[in-house]
Amino acid sequence: MTRVIQAIEPLRAELVGRSVAFVPTMGALHEGHLALVDRALELADTVVVSIFVNPLQFGPTEDLAKYPRTLDADVAALEARGVHYVFAPAVTEMYPNGDVQTRVTAGQVGDLFDGATRPGHFDGMLTVVSKLLHIVQPRFVLFGQKDAQQVFLVSRMAADLNLPVQIEVVDTVRAEDGLALSSRNRFLSEQEREAALTLSRALAAAAASGANGRDAALGAAHAVINAAPDVALDYVALVNPATFLPVDAAHTGPAMAIIAARVGSTRLIDNMRLVLAG
Ligand code: PAF
Repeated sequence: MTRVIQAIEPLRAELVGRSVAFVPTMGALHEGHLALVDRALELADTVVVSIFVNPLQFGPTEDLAKYPRTLDADVAALEARGVHYVFAPAVTEMYPNGDVQTRVTAGQVGDLFDGATRPGHFDGMLTVVSKLLHIVQPRFVLFGQKDAQQVFLVSRMAADLNLPVQIEVVDTVRAEDGLALSSRNRFLSEQEREAALTLSRALAAAAASGANGRDAALGAAHAVINAAPDVALDYVALVNPATFLPVDAAHTGPAMAIIAARVGSTRLIDNMRLVLAG
């Protein structure tokens, strides 16, 4: 039986003395989230999933109001999986003073890529993740690889602030045709969903050209994107997974191809590991 708890103190009281694996989410759950839950259930006796659409990580022109909220269906899916607790606080429970004075700041990488398009997004994300970790005090916290920049920044925060938690990263779950699962996919029309495949195809093209070096890999990705007029590219880049900074032309070895693009009014992201040679 899954217990849904809305307030911090009762949740803390329930969790005293337990070894917890924690999955923070914004709800609108799909198989990608449930893969995190399944891994969490392997790691600890008690699994907590938070469902909280965090206003702090949305910019003034972003889709906070439109972000899908499907609490009943989410709880039913988590119950079927065997999750013990759902923490679903109201905004006033998480931010009782309204405006937040104290924030975690993401540093240099927080201003790149998604951070360049969404100023303040990563500070808001790190701030709420930090709050949630203090509330739940889990032994393990789980994130999906699809949000690669988020994973990098949370890992840096945990290291920089000596947070007593182990981070587990779970591979991106994809539809059969390669589209990375995302809560935002539900906004895509049939035609847009087809266009959205450009993201994973561009990444796959980059990976396939990795043996010829950075410029060849980026060129292959751009060729796929340029052939898709319905896709408005935000960025495509190759980064060093250790620093999340762009690799230079001479870089060889592991790298990560990252992409963000708008299909219709829906912004999507994806990433893929590759090896650069050449
Ligand atoms: O990845 C998400 O859904 C959110 O960024 C997170 C980690 C739940 C923080 O609000």
